[in-house]
Order: sequence, then structure tokens, then C-alpha cells
Amino acid sequence: MNLIGLQDAAQIAGVSTTTIRNYIRDQRLKGYQKGNRLLVEREELISVFSPKLISVSLNPEKPRIIAIANQKGGVGKTTTAVALTTLLAQECPVLALDCDPQGNMTQAFGFDPDDQEQTLYNVLLDEVSIEQTLLRVGPPPNYLWLAPSNLDLADIWRRVAGRVGLESLLKTALTPLLARFKYIIMDCPPSLDLTTINCLVAASEVIVPVDMSIFSVRGMIKLQATMQEVRKVNPDLPPPKILACRTEHTTVSVSIEAGLRERLGNNIFSVAIPKTKDVQASQFSKQPLPLHSPRSKATQAYQSVIEEIRRG
Ligand SMILES: Nc1ncnc2c1ncn2[C@@H]1O[C@H](COP(=O)(O)OP(=O)(O)OP(=O)(O)O)[C@@H](O)[C@H]1O
Ligand SMILES: [Mg+2]
Repeated sequence: MNLIGLQDAAQIAGVSTTTIRNYIRDQRLKGYQKGNRLLVEREELISVFSPKLISVSLNPEKPRIIAIANQKGGVGKTTTAVALTTLLAQECPVLALDCDPQGNMTQAFGFDPDDQEQTLYNVLLDEVSIEQTLLRVGPPPNYLWLAPSNLDLADIWRRVAGRVGLESLLKTALTPLLARFKYIIMDCPPSLDLTTINCLVAASEVIVPVDMSIFSVRGMIKLQATMQEVRKVNPDLPPPKILACRTEHTTVSVSIEAGLRERLGNNIFSVAIPKTKDVQASQFSKQPLPLHSPRSKATQAYQSVIEEIRRG
């Protein structure tokens, strides 16, 4: 039997020693006590963690942590988050964080939210580490990793009421993963509740999809006010970058987009995401848009968004 210490085990599995200890505590991995040392069996460790092993070299730079937010519902947050993570993961390690109790991002990657036993809810409750929730989505070598969510998340703030530092729970939970990913993309819920605030506190930047309706523009203004509050704890958070979504060749769509561009200058992506049936078709087939329809105009537009993101 090849017994190894927890430090080595954590390194092999690509998780923290706390995660290894939690696995032993939960009897998902056998621990062997030798004197005052706790050991695990190497082969067993690999078989337990292999689906979760993140085969990437450590990323020396800080990851870009991007919140996709707008409290208005149905503007294209999830579509955008799924498309961007899928395209970015073709070149580097990416983590997709489903921060919405609706679990739409989890679903878009082909998982049933109701089947997930360990989700962001359990992470925020401090029951498991975020690594323990990760699902591998994309193909090697980079992989795309998903931290799933489901309806449990809707109850989180009632469950943790009274704890200190509620607005920073997600930021703290993400710490062990910072060295592993180049991008962390968060799909926020359609509200300005503590979940969205946690995303904004953890974020290094914010993308705000807006559809071409006057209500969406109002939502954007409210979000900017919330971001101003968030800067008390995350002072480096830059102004949000707006992404015009579901644009059409109609008078209303064209004039709303032109108005936004005039007002926002550099704070709006120069490319817009056109309205196309490909988006519904990809959702129907439970595949991210870029994989289902690589030649779609919307996929090409998302690719241009990525080029703008890379340019900073
Ligand atoms: N470019 C597009 N073309 C056509 N339909 C789109 C496009 N983008 C999004 N949609 C459609 O709009 C609806 C809302 O999109 P999505 O779920 O991405 O929005 P959301 O902001 O995440 O919604 P919620 O606030 O409920 O989380 C979906 O039915 C989706 O298919
Ligand atoms: Mg959504």
C-alpha cells in the first residue's frame, strides 16, 4: 500500500488539505492514522479525485473574475456567460460559476440542477469546499469547470443570517481556486440581492448584458448604484462594460443601441449580439451556443467580445 501525507495528497489531487480532510471525515476517502500523521492511499486518492482533477499548470497571474449581471430578467446573462466560458475554455482553464438558483447555467452545460448534491449553496454554508462541487464540462486539455447551483441557493441568506461578512462569502470560497484558472465567469441571478452583491465583491470586472428595451436600460442604472456601494469593499471594481444583446434591425432596437453607444463611449462593447433562433436551438439541444452553432452570427459576435475582453 502506497500511503502518502495530506500535503502530497492535496498536491496530487489539486485541492486543499482541508478538502482531503473533509473527504476523510465524510468517509469518501479512507484515512490511515500512523502515530500523529494522517495518511491516505495514493491509488484510492487518484480514483476518488480523477473526475475532478484539474490538469492545468498553476496560473501565476491573478485570474480575471467576471460577473455577468443585470437585475432585469431575461436580458441574456446566462446565454452570454455560457458562450464566453465555452469559447474562453478553448484556450485556457476557465471556471463557470452558476450563481443563480434557477440553475440555468448548470442546465445549459447539460446537467440537471436537481441532481446536484453539492452546489454553491453547500459551499456558502461552509459544508464543502468549492473544489468538491466542480463538474468537468469541456474537453481536454484545458477543460471547463462548472460550480453548479439549484433552487437550494434561494434559501442561503436565511440559513447564514447572523454570520459576519456575508457579502464576502463567495470571494473567500474562491480563494483556493485562484491559482488554477485564468478566467472565472459568474452567471448572476436577476436581482440585486446578497447573491449578486457577493458576485460583485468577488469580481475584478462586470459585464452587463442589456436587451434592447427601455426597462433594461433602467436596470443598468440601478446596478451602477449598487456597484458604487460595493466599491466600499471592492474599491478597484472598474465601471461595468455593457453588452448589447438580442439586437434587431427594428427602429426601436437600432435607436436604443445608438443611444447607449452615445452615452457610454468605451464602456460598451463595440460588437453587439444579434437576435437569432440559434440561441433557442442550442438551449433545446442542451449544448452551449458556440458548440451547437459555431458559425452562428451570435457565436461570431461572442468571439469578438472575447477579443475585446483580452485587449482589456
Ligand atoms: N442573441 C439571442 N437571440 C435570441 N434569443 C436570445 C438571445 N440571447 C438570449 N436569448 C433568449 O432570451 C431568453 C433569456 O436569455 P437568458 O436566459 O440568457 O437571459 P438571462 O438574463 O440569463 O435570464 P434570467 O434573468 O432569467 O437569468 C432565453 O429564452 C434565450 O433563449
Ligand atoms: Mg440567467
